[in-house]
Amino acid sequence: MIKIAKLISGSKISAQIKDEVQAEIAQMKKEKNKVPGLAVILVGENPASKVYVANKEKGCNQVGIHSETIHMEDTVSTEEILAEIDKLNNRDDIHGILVQLPLPKQVDSGKVLMAIKPEKDVDGFHPVNMGKLVAQQDCLVPATPSGIVEMLKRENITLKGKNVTMVGHSEIVGKPCTLLFLNEWATVTICHIETKDLKMHTQNADIIVVATGVPYLIKEDMVKQGAVVIDVGINRITKEDASPELLEWRKQDFEKKGATLIGDVDFQKVEPKVSHISPVPGGVGPMTIAMLLKNTLKAAKTAAE
Ligand code: GUN
Repeated sequence: MIKIAKLISGSKISAQIKDEVQAEIAQMKKEKNKVPGLAVILVGENPASKVYVANKEKGCNQVGIHSETIHMEDTVSTEEILAEIDKLNNRDDIHGILVQLPLPKQVDSGKVLMAIKPEKDVDGFHPVNMGKLVAQQDCLVPATPSGIVEMLKRENITLKGKNVTMVGHSEIVGKPCTLLFLNEWATVTICHIETKDLKMHTQNADIIVVATGVPYLIKEDMVKQGAVVIDVGINRITKEDASPELLEWRKQDFEKKGATLIGDVDFQKVEPKVSHISPVPGGVGPMTIAMLLKNTLKAAKTAAE
């Protein structure tokens, strides 16, 4: 008998978190007459970045966070972005600052991220926050990794003593995720593009987290029976590039939009073998937004102390 895995619905869990954040903000407004504020700097016309930023604005509206988006031209210089950050750093009504990545080639991303006040760094990418995460000190933690840990916790999946294989070693997901898992006493293996035998590491994992941007990277023979799979990938597949199985499964998407979104896991083949799996869309994506809103509230609360 094929056992169907339990879907971890990031959409549902993120809605709960947003409700919690909204309730706290309402209370803050009532008691302190204060509203958290988030400023997002968006550079250029990258369609994916524009969609992410629009979703962040929508999330802010839902929970009662004041949001501002500063849209800058593709040709912007590092100095021009630094000048905007300086203004936002000095505003009392803005508690969170986020620069949507990636930035154009001429911009020094490291310098830009370093310029955000660590207390307003709701992405948690500033080296001060990264360092605090290593040292297990209270800090702003990157939203996607904390969203992943939160969704596992709310599904009652324990991390202590588990073998976790993290596929992908980015600063945004892989590295901070590894630290969060380690802080929960998991045994973490980090794999990346130079890893010799990926399958050996994924087969050994109780929990696999994959964040590479490579569709169909994780196949059925790479996962242990009963494992938990968290898919962070977001890949847009057009009708022309889709397999016959995908064309059938996502028929409505292809008819409506000519494309669909899939993760890094061969979902249809892997799902019957595992105990839990997060889908794409509707998995990690909405969790990232919810945790960003939670970080903005945290930054506003800290500022009010
Ligand atoms: N680009 C892709 N993911 C992220 C994220 O979490 N934060 C920012 N600022 N940019 C991104």
